[in-house]
Amino acid sequence: MDDIVSLIRKNIRELNPYSSAREEYSGGGAVLLDANESPYNEPFNRYPDPVQTALKEKISGMLSTPAERIFLGNGSDEAIDLLIRIFCEPATDRIIIIDPSYGMYKVCADINNVGVDFVSLNEDFSLDAMRLLSAVSKETKMVFLCSPNNPSANLLDKAEITRILSAFKGVVVLDEAYIDFCGSEGLLPSLEKFRNLVILRTLSKAWGLAGIRLGMALADPEVIRYMNRVKYPYNVNFLTQVKAMEMLGSAESREKWIKEILEERIKLEGRLEEIGYVLKIFPSDANFLLVRVEDADAIYTFLNERGVIVRNRSGLTHCNGCIRITVGTPDENNRLIELMKSYPQ
Ligand SMILES: Cc1ncc(COP(=O)(O)O)c(C=O)c1O
Repeated sequence: MDDIVSLIRKNIRELNPYSSAREEYSGGGAVLLDANESPYNEPFNRYPDPVQTALKEKISGMLSTPAERIFLGNGSDEAIDLLIRIFCEPATDRIIIIDPSYGMYKVCADINNVGVDFVSLNEDFSLDAMRLLSAVSKETKMVFLCSPNNPSANLLDKAEITRILSAFKGVVVLDEAYIDFCGSEGLLPSLEKFRNLVILRTLSKAWGLAGIRLGMALADPEVIRYMNRVKYPYNVNFLTQVKAMEMLGSAESREKWIKEILEERIKLEGRLEEIGYVLKIFPSDANFLLVRVEDADAIYTFLNERGVIVRNRSGLTHCNGCIRITVGTPDENNRLIELMKSYPQ
């Protein structure tokens, strides 16, 4: 991939982005009369750092990745939308999405009037790079992969991903939202090698911070530069930046939670296997289990009516009869199992 910038839409390359006067001043202790803020109610009265410098430094150290390769957004969902808007010409360009996978890739493409081609995973949810590459047309600008994949929970094979990165001339977005649960470093070490690789990460899963909305894209510095030009100026709010700084400083909580979730996942698997109408539990590299049951719709409704909400995934490719269960606390998991065992057969 010689020139990733040439893949960017022309209007985006030519965009004159919003700039604030504060970005042009680098000294400290200034009198801030430039942004029509209130002078009262410190520190909430001030617009947050538009490029999240301190937070990026922290994440840069944590991931051993230079800050210029990091984009921070309002969840990784913001990054998905931005990437489609930056690279894909509406009504012309197309994206490929593995099937089944996370629903937002298609929703964002639909909102932006970008065509979607689905390439199914194998029955065991493994990735077939050759099948995907044979679906590439001259309109294909982007490929979305997800590893570990939602809803199938499996890590995709690195060699297959690399094959796509090498052969495809467009952008490969690899969503690693659940990577922290599987002990793999993912494709981060390959970021410099493949200029067309964009990795998505989030604080919504292992970090226990879905409520603050902080996600990231890790990519070539030129891609990050364009993402920053197109995003809303203050896309990551002050409270989120403060809370993320605090949490990233205490990685022990995260480690402890991951360990507990993984232990609970193993227990949950064992107890689900004892239930007669559970037909299959797919191997998981994430914080959830995809479980095939005899009557997914009825079991989903039974649980729902009794206050346990799981996700019915039976309408998705290769997922017929499947529900997706997030691993909860021991009490939550007990409640689920009790209820499932009480289901009249
Ligand atoms: C694969 C995947 N990517 C991204 C997200 C959304 O992440 P965020 O909360 O950072 O927007 C989810 C949420 O469920 C997900 O499953």
